[in-house]
Amino acid sequence: MKPPVPSDLHAQSDDQQSAATLMFFGDPHGNFEPVITAVERFRPEAIVLLGDLQARRPLQVELAPILDRTEVYFIHGNHDTDSDPDYDNLFGSELADRNIHGRIVEIAGYKIAGLGGIFRSKIWDPRRPVEEAAFFSADALRRSMRPEERWRDGIARRHRSTIFPEDYQRLLQGPLADILVTHEAPVAHPHGWRAIDELAEMLGVQLVVHGHHHQNIDYLAEGMITVAAPFRVFGIDKGSHLTWPRDPLRESGWASLPEDLLDLAAQVFGAEAHTWLEKPHEKLDGQTPAAFAAGGGSDKVRSILNAIQHGGVA
Ligand SMILES: [Fe+2]
Repeated sequence: MKPPVPSDLHAQSDDQQSAATLMFFGDPHGNFEPVITAVERFRPEAIVLLGDLQARRPLQVELAPILDRTEVYFIHGNHDTDSDPDYDNLFGSELADRNIHGRIVEIAGYKIAGLGGIFRSKIWDPRRPVEEAAFFSADALRRSMRPEERWRDGIARRHRSTIFPEDYQRLLQGPLADILVTHEAPVAHPHGWRAIDELAEMLGVQLVVHGHHHQNIDYLAEGMITVAAPFRVFGIDKGSHLTWPRDPLRESGWASLPEDLLDLAAQVFGAEAHTWLEKPHEKLDGQTPAAFAAGGGSDKVRSILNAIQHGGVA
């Protein structure tokens, strides 16, 4: 019998490759291997990286193996302004114009709104009215600074990943959208923000996907939102991804995983089986056993489970 497992956030099986239209990737933090591997396997029409890329080389160099295979888009995260190389390898890269922060772009047939960066209360605490923000825009902040205080004649590097009210409000001046991608989480997350939910509602999106917190979360499956919520929400861990649209079969469980593998996981871990299946494993290139198995690696996952069952450490 299949253990009760939450729906799979991850990959589609090899025979479903053509179904992957869009893929969202959690914060790479300099490691683009999982992105390249997944794009080569699933051939999505387009991908969106959810911030904290921290590319060690210009982004077009890091992603060179997949640039002719998919359309690349991203939003920036707070760590993309940590150092000059972090900043330059992203904002100065040949892919800089693929940043969808503060705008709505049609990608693979979906209107996707982007809000990169994080809220910093020195600029704007979104729990307070916009009128109380210290600075409405990056330009307003720059004008308040003496020339010698500026970084490259503009605002501090750090604040180039800060969300200004202007960025947020610009999104509301455009058309409605289908999907909202953010670095920050919505309010259902312990470190989330109601302003993200309000933005999603005003944009009329059906889906919110965020990074930043390094957790795979299906908010509905986890009971963090209800079916009455106007949109679905997913958080994506670094090294993980979400495909969209989702396979309806997958909504009811890990339909693509072999039943004997789920049985074996249940024998070894009991009620903790799905926790183990959802946790990145060092012997699986940092992927979760569920994602690795769904991607065609079920034999390796099976052998790890067998080793644990027979007293080995794996
Ligand atoms: Fe982050």
